[in-house]
Amino acid sequence: MSRKLYRAVKRLRNSAFRKLSHGDLIKKLLTEDIDALKKKSAVFVETGCGISTISLTEVGKKIGATVYSCDYNSKKADELKLAMPDQISGVNFMIGDSLESLAKIAERHAEIDFLFLDSAASAMHTFKEFLIMEKCLHPGSRVLVDNAAIPGVKRVLSPVRKGRILVPYLLASPFWEVKGYPEAGDSMVAAIMRSQADYADPDYEDPEYIDNWRALFKKKLS
Ligand SMILES: C[S@@+](CC[C@H](N)C(=O)[O-])C[C@H]1O[C@@H](n2cnc3c(N)ncnc32)[C@H](O)[C@@H]1O
Repeated sequence: MSRKLYRAVKRLRNSAFRKLSHGDLIKKLLTEDIDALKKKSAVFVETGCGISTISLTEVGKKIGATVYSCDYNSKKADELKLAMPDQISGVNFMIGDSLESLAKIAERHAEIDFLFLDSAASAMHTFKEFLIMEKCLHPGSRVLVDNAAIPGVKRVLSPVRKGRILVPYLLASPFWEVKGYPEAGDSMVAAIMRSQADYADPDYEDPEYIDNWRALFKKKLS
């Protein structure tokens, strides 16, 4: 099968399997939190602008949230502004590498309520993006990652690279409740920070594993 045909078949198969677009899931998650978000000066941040920016802005406008979109492609951001002037009016575009842009946002805002990570197709880059913003995330904050999956899930819509480090990190944390949406966007994972430390997945935080390793280490030294 030629590469072109393979891509066309894959697109067709994905569109049949995809139940929610990126924007649908963004709106669904934010709508679940809308009452709490209305009570504060909410801040939404995304890395990687595009169609998602429209959904983020739509909800942001309803509740007067500050919306940031970080992308190093200024041409894409300009095209988006030209094509959808009303839908994305008020978005703060941060042009440049997302790691630098996020650091600036983290300096400006003590709290971020919604963080959508969808820039470089790299597990490490996505993880670094998260680490920069981690101090701004509080109970109730949500993180959404595209090209991500709960480990072990077979049927996904993309190679799920962006979440390869971040998703296990969130699963191991007792404060993050994590849920996979393999049929949304290009396979997505969402997480919400809780105030109770009840959410660690024991598969990712097994004290036995560490003990065994220590015992073996000691044996080899003696
Ligand atoms: C998959 S697209 C984003 C799609 C968008 N979220 C949507 O739903 O339509 C990835 C975007 O990330 C941007 N990007 C890639 N690496 C980046 C980086 N290191 N810093 C900032 N933007 C980056 C690209 O220019 C591209 O616009």
